[in-house]
Parts: sequence; structure tokens; C-alpha cells
Amino acid sequence: MNKPKAILCSCFAISTLAFAQHDHGHGAPSADMRVAVEYPPAMKEHTLTSMRDHLLAINQIQEAMGNGQYDKAAQIAETRLGQTALKTHNAYENSKFMPKGMQDIGNQMHRSASKFAIEVQNSGATGDTKQALLALSKKTQACVACHSGYRLK
Ligand code: HEC
Repeated sequence: MNKPKAILCSCFAISTLAFAQHDHGHGAPSADMRVAVEYPPAMKEHTLTSMRDHLLAINQIQEAMGNGQYDKAAQIAETRLGQTALKTHNAYENSKFMPKGMQDIGNQMHRSASKFAIEVQNSGATGDTKQALLALSKKTQACVACHSGYRLK
């Protein structure tokens, strides 16, 4: 795998995206530059199921924040996307099949979800959602970065 290794800097999503868009503009429009990763079939199915739940969780977080339910937003983030979710998703088992760069983005996502959970709890105390929204966008950057770099076979 010759994917960039230094993806832990906060700009990793941007650079991956810029790369994808550059290619889109100048190469064959339909060229898929993503690294294809092979998972055992059951694990692929389980992964895609949990991906759909990730999207649902983001949606429910936004709804909870809109309703001022900050503790609820924190709980969804921690249990469905954060470090707690990491354990229930068999992430350690699964990570054996991931290239290093993909593992790093996955870890980044779980870490930033836990960070968001803390920020949105602060929102409950201060009424200010700015830092929580920034933390949420850091988290979704990890979704974007992994999707633009990798696909499943
Ligand atoms: C570490 C990598 C990684 C991260 C992080 C990640 N995904 Fe994915 N996701 C994938 C891969 C790989 C696929 C399969 C894409 C393909 O094969 O074209 C996928 C597919 C999906 C799908 C399609 C599911 C289906 O049924 O086909 C959704 C929805 C999704 N991801 C949502 C998310 C959301 C939301 C986040 C962030 C909260 C996220 N993902 C974070 C790797 C990742």
C-alpha cells in the first residue's frame, strides 16, 4: 500500500479530497483511484450494516442538537461512533484486514467522536454549540477521508 502515512494531521481529509478532485478534473472521469480492500464476506456485510448505522447516528446527533438535547447527542456519539462503539464493533478483529492508512482513519473517527461527545456536553452547560459543531465536522471529515481513499472489493 503506498497511501500517504501521515494522515493524522487535521488536514488529511482535505488533501485526500483535493487529490480525488484533481484526478476527476484531469484524468478519465470515471477512474476509481480508491484502494480496494478485501474483507471476508460476513465481515463486509457487517461493516456495511454498521456504516449505515453511522450515517443514521450522525442524523440523530444533528436532530438532538437541533432540539437542544445535548446529552442525548453525546450519548449517541459515544455509544455508536466513539471509543465505546469501537469495542462493540469488533474493531480489533476487523482491523487485521485494513491497510495501515485505513486503520488510522478509523481510529481517528472513533477518537474524534469521543471528543465531540465531550464538546456537546459542554454545550449543555454553556448553551454555545460552536465547538461541538466543529468537533462534529472533524468527525465527518474522517468518514469523507476513508471513503475517498478506500473501497471494499
Ligand atoms: C476507516 C474507513 C471508513 C470510515 C472511517 C467510515 N467509512 Fe463508511 N465505508 C467505508 C468503506 C470501505 C465502505 C464501502 C465503500 C465501497 O466499497 O464503495 C463504506 C460504506 C459506507 C456506506 C454505504 C453502506 C452500504 O450499505 O453500502 C455508508 C452509508 C457509510 N459508509 C457511512 C459512513 C459514515 C457516516 C461514516 C462516518 C461517521 C463512515 N462511513 C466512516 C469505510 C469507512
